[in-house]
Amino acid sequence: MSGRPCGLIAALDTPEVAAAQRLSAAVRPSCGLVKLGLEFFAANGPAGLRALGDVPVFLDLKLHDIPNTVAGAIRALLPLRPRMVTLHAGGGAAMLRAAREAAEAAGESRPRLLAVTVLTSLDDAALRATGIADPPAAQVLRLARLAMDAGADGLVCAPPEVAMLRAALGPLPLLVAPGIRPAGSAAGDQARIATPRAAAAAGADWLVVGRPITEAADPRAAAAAIRAEIGG
Ligand code: C5P
Repeated sequence: MSGRPCGLIAALDTPEVAAAQRLSAAVRPSCGLVKLGLEFFAANGPAGLRALGDVPVFLDLKLHDIPNTVAGAIRALLPLRPRMVTLHAGGGAAMLRAAREAAEAAGESRPRLLAVTVLTSLDDAALRATGIADPPAAQVLRLARLAMDAGADGLVCAPPEVAMLRAALGPLPLLVAPGIRPAGSAAGDQARIATPRAAAAAGADWLVVGRPITEAADPRAAAAAIRAEIGG
C-alpha cells in the first residue's frame, strides 16, 4: 500500500433526483463523497443538488471556457458548497488561476479544484488528430504540471497514470481515479482499469466507482465491500 488513506466516491450517473437520493443514502456509510456529473446537473441544476441534502458532493462538470466565464461559473457554484469541482487543464493556466481565485472566496471550505488532463476516451490516434503528436502519457504529465502550477488542488487520472503522476509530482496533488473495477466485475466501456486495491496502492487519494456500485443488486453492500478492500 502507498500509506496514504484512500477514500471512496460513488458516481451517481443518473438524471433522476429520486434515484440519486436513493443511491446516495445507500452508499453514504462507505463513501466520503458522491459524484454528480453533467447528466444530473443538466437535468436538475442547483435545485437537484440541494434535493440531496447535506451529502458531500464531487461536482464533475469539466469546465473549459475563457477565464472570466469559468471564474463566474465557480462563483455561481459556491453556494452549493461542492467539495470538489473538475475543470479541463487544456483550458490553460489563466483559466485555472481564475478558477482558483474565484474559489478562494469561500475560504477554507472552498471547493477543491481537480484538473482533467487527457480524456481516457482519447487513444493515441484520436489525440494525434487534435494536433498533439506526443503519446497520451506525455501530454497527461505536461497538462498535470501546468494545472498544479496554476493552482489546481489535484488531478483526475486513469489508474495506470496514478503511480506515474505520484512519482513525478510528489505527495501534494490530490489524485482521483475513475476506471475502478473490483475483481470479477464487468469492465463495461472502461478500457484502462484497476482493482480498488491496486489503485489505492499506487497512491490514489480517492477512487470513483460508478456501475459496480449503482448496478449492483445491493449498492450498499457493493460500496461497503470496496471500502473494505481499500482499507477503512
Ligand atoms: O461506471 P464507472 O465506474 O465506469 O463510472 C466511472 C465514473 O467516472 C463515471 O461517472 C465517468 O463519467 C467518470 N470518469 C471516467 N473516466 C474519466 C473521467 C471520469 O470514467 N477519465
